[in-house]
Amino acid sequence: MPLDIGVLVSGRGSNLEAILDSIAHGRITGARVSVVVSSASGVRAVDVARRFGVDTVVLDAASLRLSRQEYDDLLAEQLARKGISQSDGLVVLAGFDRILGAGFVNKFAGRLINVHPALLPSFKGLHAQRQAVEYGVKVSGCTVHFVVADVDAGPIILQKAVEVKDDDDEESLSERILRAEHEALPQAIQMFATGRLKVNGRRVVVA
Ligand code: GAR
Repeated sequence: MPLDIGVLVSGRGSNLEAILDSIAHGRITGARVSVVVSSASGVRAVDVARRFGVDTVVLDAASLRLSRQEYDDLLAEQLARKGISQSDGLVVLAGFDRILGAGFVNKFAGRLINVHPALLPSFKGLHAQRQAVEYGVKVSGCTVHFVVADVDAGPIILQKAVEVKDDDDEESLSERILRAEHEALPQAIQMFATGRLKVNGRRVVVA
């Protein structure tokens, strides 16, 4: 049985597209995206999922007006329908703009990964690329990591560095980092799908 992946999105969906494209071209094997859950309606990510024939669920946070716990429970229910649970499958945050509660995160511990547009632990949180430009770092990049209850603090699976050029602004740096994300996230998923990731405390060892 292939690994069932649930991808959580909120907007543009270019990382989702990179994942689906990697599956279509055999760069990710033994896995399929079984569901895409979007926290917003009318976003490009949902169109991307449909174009690839993937089932989509929109849990529009703005109109549902649920507590964090209620929202997370609904999310877990939708994933469970596709065989993604605390003991099976993988949940990928690909530009998902909601903070998940500790209950959800702990339930999916070791099966929940995120891509962040900076070299963690630098520039956690929002506008990571802007933070990097404003700080004046010469190198930034992206990080794929397991998710823990503390935001952007989980064990790191892989990172890719990119140069920060003297004339970069937030937009140009974001574009360069995004290209790195499109390589890093599918690579991390392939490592997970083939059982190569072992978490040892804070360290992830790739077998
Ligand atoms: C990506 O740059 C991703 O790293 C970032 O949102 C963007 C989503 O783009 N995520 C975060 O900042 C999470 N902290 P996409 O919708 O085109 O994949």
